[in-house]
Amino acid sequence: MEIIIQPTANAASVIAARLIARQVREKPDSVLGLATGSTPIATYQELIRLHREEGLDFSRVTTFNLDEYVGLQAEHPASYHAFMDLQLFSHINIPRERIHIPDGMAADVPAECARFEAAIRAAGGIDLQLLGIGSDGHIGFNEPSSSLASRTRIKTLTERTRADNVYNFGGDFAKMPLHCITMGVGTIMETRAVLLLAFGAGKAQAVAEAVEGPITAMNPASILQMHPVAKCLMDEPAAARLKKCEYYRWVFDNKPQWQRV
Ligand code: F6R
Repeated sequence: MEIIIQPTANAASVIAARLIARQVREKPDSVLGLATGSTPIATYQELIRLHREEGLDFSRVTTFNLDEYVGLQAEHPASYHAFMDLQLFSHINIPRERIHIPDGMAADVPAECARFEAAIRAAGGIDLQLLGIGSDGHIGFNEPSSSLASRTRIKTLTERTRADNVYNFGGDFAKMPLHCITMGVGTIMETRAVLLLAFGAGKAQAVAEAVEGPITAMNPASILQMHPVAKCLMDEPAAARLKKCEYYRWVFDNKPQWQRV
């Protein structure tokens, strides 16, 4: 795992956007895995800027989102369909048919999950997966105790995750779904490269456990220690509980020229 600590979330987001842009420029038909939540918003803003000002072309890119709430129409303002449209898709030139988000309204959820997995395979697999991390260490909505070999499936959100996200539902737990469809941990581990973003003091404990703790289903992000190409970009508050901060900074500052972002 490569740990990149930046002074601010914005600085880290600019690096994340550059890495995604490099992936798209090197392979215009890249398959990107995308995340929702507050964490990737600044990265999406920078990608939009790169599209508008530097011609970053998404016309041949395919995307797969990590997750969606069960029981929310795509048009619901708190759905991840609506989020992605608002934060990224409506601002770039990605063709609609290349966008894949689990259907939270599917009548047959297992069939929808199997369809989603098959679509990833048919696209040739995910080249670069963007991830946030939950304050409980979840990636996607793979909550603690999720199988580290899991595939796309239905999950029940923990009380903590519901509390972290209830602001999207006007603070009303009754309006917030209990279930979601999420890519599995095994699905995420098959992606060719992973970019995990973590911002704010609320993520510090989960990050420390994921990066420097044992690999455990109780912190699903810790499995990324086994991913061959995983970068973890964070701001200072999220890095606050890491023991080897100075080492990670030293490695980043002393990268060979060809490895620099
Ligand atoms: C979102 C997702 C989640 C979030 C995580 C952090 O698609 O899969 O794992 O990345 O819950 O959420 P924020 O960024 O809102 O702190």
